[in-house]
Amino acid sequence: MNTTQLFDVRNKVCVVTGGASGIGLACGEAMAENGARVVLMDIDTARLEEAVARLRVRDLAVSGEVVDVSSRVSLAAAFDTVAGREGGIDVVFANAGVDVGEGFIARDGSRSVEGALENITEEHWRKYLGINLGGVLHTLQEAARHMKPVGSGKIVVTTSIASFCNVGGVGTSYFAAKAAASHLMRQAALELARYNIQVNAIAPGSFATNIAGGHVRVPEVRRILEASNPQQRIAEPDEIKGLALLLASDASSFITGSEIVIDGGALLGPADSGAQHD
Ligand SMILES: NC(=O)c1ccc[n+]([C@@H]2O[C@H](COP(=O)([O-])OP(=O)(O)OC[C@H]3O[C@@H](n4cnc5c(N)ncnc54)[C@H](O)[C@@H]3O)[C@@H](O)[C@H]2O)c1
Repeated sequence: MNTTQLFDVRNKVCVVTGGASGIGLACGEAMAENGARVVLMDIDTARLEEAVARLRVRDLAVSGEVVDVSSRVSLAAAFDTVAGREGGIDVVFANAGVDVGEGFIARDGSRSVEGALENITEEHWRKYLGINLGGVLHTLQEAARHMKPVGSGKIVVTTSIASFCNVGGVGTSYFAAKAAASHLMRQAALELARYNIQVNAIAPGSFATNIAGGHVRVPEVRRILEASNPQQRIAEPDEIKGLALLLASDASSFITGSEIVIDGGALLGPADSGAQHD
C-alpha cells in the first residue's frame, strides 16, 4: 500500500457521537472531506441540524441522528438505522462528553463547596458518569455489535489529558470518568483485536470548543490556559483532524490500545515562560 492508500477512507461509513460541535464535528468533517459517508450523532437537535447543513453545502456526505449516549437503547436504534441505510459501519468515534461543573477549586479561585468531595451527590455521579463513561461503553458495545460479524473496524474514543493528571478546577467526576474510559478503551482493544478491530483514544488538552458553554473561549480563561501551555496557546478543533484520520484509516493498522495525547505539551509540565530570555 502506498501512503495515499494508507489514509484512504473513501466510502467508509463513519459514526461520530457528540458530532454536532467541537472535536467531534472536526473528526466528522475530516472523514467527510476525505470521502467517507459520515453520520453525526448528537443530543442537541438544533446544533446537529446546523452542522449537517453546513457540511452538506460543501457537498460532503453527511447526515445526522439524534441520540443520547447515556442510553444504550437510544444508541442501538441509531446504529441500526445507519447500518440498515448505509450497509454497515466501518469507523466509530466515541466522542460525546460534557463538563461536569466545578472542581474543588471554583472558577474564581476560591474553594468550592459544591465541588468538594464530600458534597458530590449520587445524582450528579450517576448523571455525569452515565454520559462521560456510560456513553463510551454504550458506543463501544454498539460498534462491536456491528463490526465483529464483518471482521474489521476502527473505534476512536475521545478521552482527555484528565486521564493522566489532576487539577482542582475541573469537576472530580470528570477525572474518574476519563481515566476509566481510557482503561475501558484498552480492555476493548484487547478483546476486539482478534476481530481486526482497532480501538484507540485521542487525549486532548485544551481545545477551543463549546464544552462548558464555551468557557475556554472566554478571553481571561483563554489567556490563563495559553500562558500555562508550552506552545503558549490552545488548539482549534481543526487540529484534531490529522490524528482522527490516522486512527480511522489503514495507516494505523498495527496501532491498537493506544491513547495519543494532543495537548501542545501541556502534560510535560509548567510552560517555559521565556522570561529569562526576553
Ligand atoms: N475541548 C477541550 O478542551 C477538551 C479537552 C479534553 C477532552 N475533551 C473531550 O472532547 C470531547 C468533545 O468535547 P468538545 O470539547 O468538542 O465539546 P463540545 O461541547 O463542543 O461538543 C460535545 C458535543 O457532545 C454532545 N453531547 C453532550 N452530551 C451528549 C449525550 N448525552 N449524547 C449525545 N451527545 C451529547 C453535545 O451536544 C456537543 O455537541 C468530550 O468527550 C470532551 O470531554 C475536550
